Amino acid sequence: MSVLVTGGTGYIGSHTCVDFIEKGQDIVILDNLCNSKIEVLDYIEQITGIRPKFYQCDLLDKEGMKKIFDENDIDTVIHFAGLKAVGESVAKPIEYYKNNITGTLNLIEEMRDHNCFKLVFSSSATVYGKPKSVPIKEDFPLSTTNPYGTTKLYIEQILKDLCVADDRFSVVLLRYFNPIGAHSSGLIGDNPNGIPNNLMPYVTRVAKGVLPHLNVFGNDYETADGTGVRDFIHVLDLAAGHYAALKALSNPGVSIYNLGTGNGVSVLDIINTFERVTGIKIPYQIAPRRPGDIAECFADASKAEFELGWKATRGLDEMCASAWNFESKHS
Ligand code: NAD
Ligand code: UD1
Repeated sequence: MSVLVTGGTGYIGSHTCVDFIEKGQDIVILDNLCNSKIEVLDYIEQITGIRPKFYQCDLLDKEGMKKIFDENDIDTVIHFAGLKAVGESVAKPIEYYKNNITGTLNLIEEMRDHNCFKLVFSSSATVYGKPKSVPIKEDFPLSTTNPYGTTKLYIEQILKDLCVADDRFSVVLLRYFNPIGAHSSGLIGDNPNGIPNNLMPYVTRVAKGVLPHLNVFGNDYETADGTGVRDFIHVLDLAAGHYAALKALSNPGVSIYNLGTGNGVSVLDIINTFERVTGIKIPYQIAPRRPGDIAECFADASKAEFELGWKATRGLDEMCASAWNFESKHS
């Protein structure tokens, strides 16, 4: 039996494919390459020695998806494919709702029609909106502040409704905190188009000299050093969380897990650690708070540890060093 990985050539998907192949799992990748490159397949092959079967296919292409399910024995889907840029989602809500929500509806319809009932979905800590306290537990109230986040929340609800209606389905919702870092080979990593929105790719591009300085969005938050605090997790730990999540697919219905380290790390902590491990100075200036940002967001990740036996093991030094190793090898 094979695992279908939608969005498998993307940042988190490619690391998860490597992890699954190394654990002996047969995978099939679906991606329309709207935010990733075909060369990623070469890199996965270089790292693992195995070239996964790949379909360039859009989630909105029902015929294309039907063909994939017809041609392969797929019993589980790991569903990464989606658009993820918060600012762009505010400007293009129709595109975001169509791609992410219609795309997921198409996927689960094909799954049902092909007797495939196990699904792991990439959700996000963004579904906690402005949390009332930290660390955040899975049963905290849910809300969103932008269309991207709303697609995640709606898809979670759709999948919950699906499991109520059809008890053959088993779904795991993984709420990621802030994945950073890259595979130690430096072959795969986070390579956003244009000017990065997220902190770590911005830092690595400043380090490379592509961008002149980092803007630190606010130093007047109620945090230890005044800058925003997040739960940065190494992408390989996150990838391993997906393999651990397969265990929960033997339970009927929906299971929900935070995937984070449980540690709050500030923007200044990231700058200081990056400078120490790479020896490269990151010029920065304090800028106004970014609209929609919250002061602190970090996970209570104990449910995943207790129920799945999964725990993040890689530290901030490794996250920064591997992110730089990737950036310095790629244009
Ligand atoms: P990514 O953009 O690198 O990967 C997503 C992949 O999906 C890309 O390769 C893209 O080409 C593909 N894709 C998008 N729409 C598609 C469609 N309609 N049909 C087929 N393929 C399509 O993003 P990522 O960082 O690897 O994120 C993966 C998932 O995790 C996304 O759903 C994202 O929302 C979620 N997530 C990411 C983060 C993060 O910080 N990176 C945090 C929380 C949740
Ligand atoms: C952002 C998204 C969130 C998404 C997550 C992962 C917003 C409001 N939220 O979260 O929905 O799930 O990315 O993709 O965009 N920072 C700077 N300078 C920068 C960039 C960031 O100071 O140039 C700060 C931010 O203010 C924040 C921290 O770094 O305090 C982390 O930012 P970022 O990497 O964008 O992640 P989130 O804001 O957590």
